[in-house]
Amino acid sequence: MPRLTFAVCVLTALTLFSTTAWAQRPDGPRRSGPRPEARTPIENVPLPKDEEEKKILDALQQSRQGPRYANVSEADGRLLRLLAETTGAKLVVEIGTSTGESGLWFALALRKTGGKLITHEIDPGRAAVATENFKKAGVEGLITIVQGDAHEKVKDVAGPIDILFLDADKSGYLDYLEKLVPILRPGGLIIAHNMVRPNPDPRFLEAITKNPDFETSFLLMEGSGVGVTMKKR
Ligand SMILES: C[S@@+](CC[C@H](N)C(=O)[O-])C[C@H]1O[C@@H](n2cnc3c(N)ncnc32)[C@H](O)[C@@H]1O
Repeated sequence: MPRLTFAVCVLTALTLFSTTAWAQRPDGPRRSGPRPEARTPIENVPLPKDEEEKKILDALQQSRQGPRYANVSEADGRLLRLLAETTGAKLVVEIGTSTGESGLWFALALRKTGGKLITHEIDPGRAAVATENFKKAGVEGLITIVQGDAHEKVKDVAGPIDILFLDADKSGYLDYLEKLVPILRPGGLIIAHNMVRPNPDPRFLEAITKNPDFETSFLLMEGSGVGVTMKKR
């Protein structure tokens, strides 16, 4: 192949890779930070509307440079914020705080809805990092971290819950559902993370898809997969 043709082929291949494979990753690169200019138009970046929002997004960005701990992706986090803000959520209950990234996405909404997040974490080290992240973002007043085994601790939650977010031990989702659905308000949402990867508990899937009291839709199936279930009115 003549040298010029070869060079053109290589350049074309590189361009295609950078504008498709890289840019179409649902979450962009994790360690090198976002490259907004390389994203496709539908993969827009979150744009802060004010200083408070910027502080939260900056804290998220910093946290995302560190160890991942299987925290939600940016795409999944933005969905959490959208659902909480559009439903005007006053009480979000999360199972699985980790280092607080999903909590920060919820906080973006809750500062506008006048709502609160109660989040549960069994690992004291992760709970401590989450506490720091919430302070850094200036949202510690919106969030209560409950440290301990959520299977026990959720008994202390007083409803009505607007959104229940399940993101801890996957085999425990059914137990959390059974314990908390009675205090989920009619019209409230159960958001379940990891409905594709790792393998979801079939008993939980059956519970949210075979019960006429619920309406469930599965979203973002190219990522970890998110199930959104409404408790019917
Ligand atoms: C996937 S991570 C949560 C990620 C977090 N929601 C985020 O996106 O930032 C799951 C977390 O659940 C916690 N966990 C597991 N079993 C738990 C239990 N029984 N009670 C409370 N937390 C638990 C783990 O320690 C871990 O930090």
